[in-house]
Amino acid sequence: MVDLSQVSGLSISLDERTGELHGKGVPESVPRSFAEMAKVVLDPRALPPKEVLYLMYRDFPTSPQVQAAGLRYDITVMFPKPVGRELPKTKGHIHSRPPGSTSSYPEVYQVLHGRALYELFGPWKGDTDEIETVFLVEAEPGDIVVVPPDHAHITHVLGQEPVVMANWVARDCQNDFHPIEQRRSGPVYLLAEGTHRPTIQFNPHYRVKQLRWEMARDSGRGFIRGVPIYTTVLRQPRQFGWLNP
Ligand SMILES: [Fe+2]
Repeated sequence: MVDLSQVSGLSISLDERTGELHGKGVPESVPRSFAEMAKVVLDPRALPPKEVLYLMYRDFPTSPQVQAAGLRYDITVMFPKPVGRELPKTKGHIHSRPPGSTSSYPEVYQVLHGRALYELFGPWKGDTDEIETVFLVEAEPGDIVVVPPDHAHITHVLGQEPVVMANWVARDCQNDFHPIEQRRSGPVYLLAEGTHRPTIQFNPHYRVKQLRWEMARDSGRGFIRGVPIYTTVLRQPRQFGWLNP
C-alpha cells in the first residue's frame, strides 16, 4: 500500500497491485477498458478487449461551498501497462463550453504518484487538423498542470509505476472524445523506445506548427507545487471561479 495522504490532502492509499484506492469517502471506480480505446491506439489488437487501462474515481466528497462553486474533484489511477509499442495513455478529450462562452472549460491536474506526461494541444475546437502548439509536459508527484481553455488533453504514463493523478473541473463540463477518436488519437504517439525520453511519432491526421517539451511549472493560477490541490480549493473555493467561468 502506498500512503497518498500527504501528497493528496485526503486520507487515502493506493494498492499498487490492483490500482484500487482505499480510504474514507473514496467513490466507486469506473474502469476504462482497452475495447473503449480501440480507435485511439496504434495497435487495436495489442491487448485483450477487457483489459483495464485505468480507473476513474469521480466526485470525491468536498464541502457545501465547493459544491456551490460548481467544482468536482476526481482521481484517476493509470496502470503502467504498455499498449503494444505505445506508452499507456488516457483516451483524450476536449471539454464543452460554459453557457454563452466561446471557449471551453479549463481544468487543473496534480500528479499524486508516478511520472506522467501531459499532451496538451490547441487552441483547438476539434474542427480542424491544424494545431498551433503541442505541449508535452512532464510531471512528478506534487506537480501541477493547468489545462487552458480550448486545449485537448491526453495523459501518458512515463516509467514503471502506476500514475495517480487528481483533477479539479467544473461539474457542468462534459468530455467530448469524438474529434480525437476521428483522428485516431492526438497529434503524437509516444513509443516506449527511447532510452531517456520516449520516441515521438507524429499522427498524420494533424498538421502541427510547434512541439514543446516542458517540465511542469512550479505553480499556476493559485496552485502551488507540492501543496495538495484538494486542500487549496477547499480552503478558498472562491479563488477558483476561473475553473467554472
Ligand atoms: Fe479533461
